[in-house]
Amino acid sequence: MIVLGIESSCDETAAALVRDDGTILSDVVSSQVKLHAPYGGVVPEIASRAHMTNIAPVLGRALEAVDGGLEAVDAVAATNGPGLVGALLVGLQVAKAIAWVRSVPFVGVNHLVGHLLSIYLRREGDSTIDLPPTPFIALLVSGGHTALYEVRGPLEIEQLGQTRDDAAGEAFDKVAKLLGLGYPGGPLIDKLAARGDHRAIALPRPMALKDNLEFSFSGLKTAVARYIAKNGRPEDDRQLADFCASFQRVVVDVLVRKSLAACRQRRVEYLVLSGGVAANIALRDRMSDAASRAGVRLYKPPLSTCTDNAAMIAYAGAERLKRGLVDNWSLGVFSRSPILGACPGSAVLKRYKSSRLPR
Ligand code: KG4
Ligand code: ZN
Repeated sequence: MIVLGIESSCDETAAALVRDDGTILSDVVSSQVKLHAPYGGVVPEIASRAHMTNIAPVLGRALEAVDGGLEAVDAVAATNGPGLVGALLVGLQVAKAIAWVRSVPFVGVNHLVGHLLSIYLRREGDSTIDLPPTPFIALLVSGGHTALYEVRGPLEIEQLGQTRDDAAGEAFDKVAKLLGLGYPGGPLIDKLAARGDHRAIALPRPMALKDNLEFSFSGLKTAVARYIAKNGRPEDDRQLADFCASFQRVVVDVLVRKSLAACRQRRVEYLVLSGGVAANIALRDRMSDAASRAGVRLYKPPLSTCTDNAAMIAYAGAERLKRGLVDNWSLGVFSRSPILGACPGSAVLKRYKSSRLPR
């Protein structure tokens, strides 16, 4: 089965073709970063309009990968939340239209589930890929979410804890803005921090000592704002690198500590990273070291599948379709996750609403 995936939840317009075993046939992502950069963050209305302009060419390029283009598509999956409502609507409506015209099944996919299952994606001909056994603990760290899950199967995901306020990626982006670095801040801080001394500036370690699995980053952001208000922005490259390294160290420390606490508490020895912040080099390195010391096997997706893409949506959709689950044309979008976000601690994700495709 070849699934067409469409992703438009935030500032990436993406389309991909993926086989139901996770093999990526095409993976096209059009980033709107340049459009939003002058504002220091994503502007929802600009995002929706850019999705409208970009979706057709992005789809066209994704479909070039297979003979017959649209005719080769067996099912369509699209992100229906969480995300920006106007942005989500563009991808979802296009997905429904294609499924309707082609008379193939259509499924809505939770963006977070897409990230959590992205570790199963592989490039064609890549037979050496090492897949995590279930159950595994997953750390999802992105611009909108920071949470830990126990993944027992593609449709059985339990949230163990999440951030009480800002997401880790949001903290990277806001601190970069305070430092006058530009948007998105994560990759910029990552690069600068590599040259800095993480002991240079003492910043608070949010909830680091508690053994609970929740996060909080807004206090850290405030501490950075206060530091800059008092001392001014770092003046030269050396100071800037030291500042970035000190901030990044605190975030990475907390993420590493809580991920391994989750493995310990759940007695699970497999750990998976996902989401845009999982592209962070220091996080990948420090998590690898800490996991191997704890006897935990770490699985890191390639950098291209950490950030938003449609291949993960196609694959998460395929997992639902394989179990006979489809959605009908009335499926709507949602901005916050009713399944994974609203019930910290105990929500077991089975399957959200499902129904038969009308013929
Ligand atoms: O998963 P993603 O592409 O979109 C969301 O679903 O939010 O994540 C985007 C976030 C942004 O906050 C960005 O600054 C952060 O991921 N990010 C990074 C890195 N690359 C992207 N954060 C730290 N280090 C990186 N290398
Ligand atoms: Zn995402």
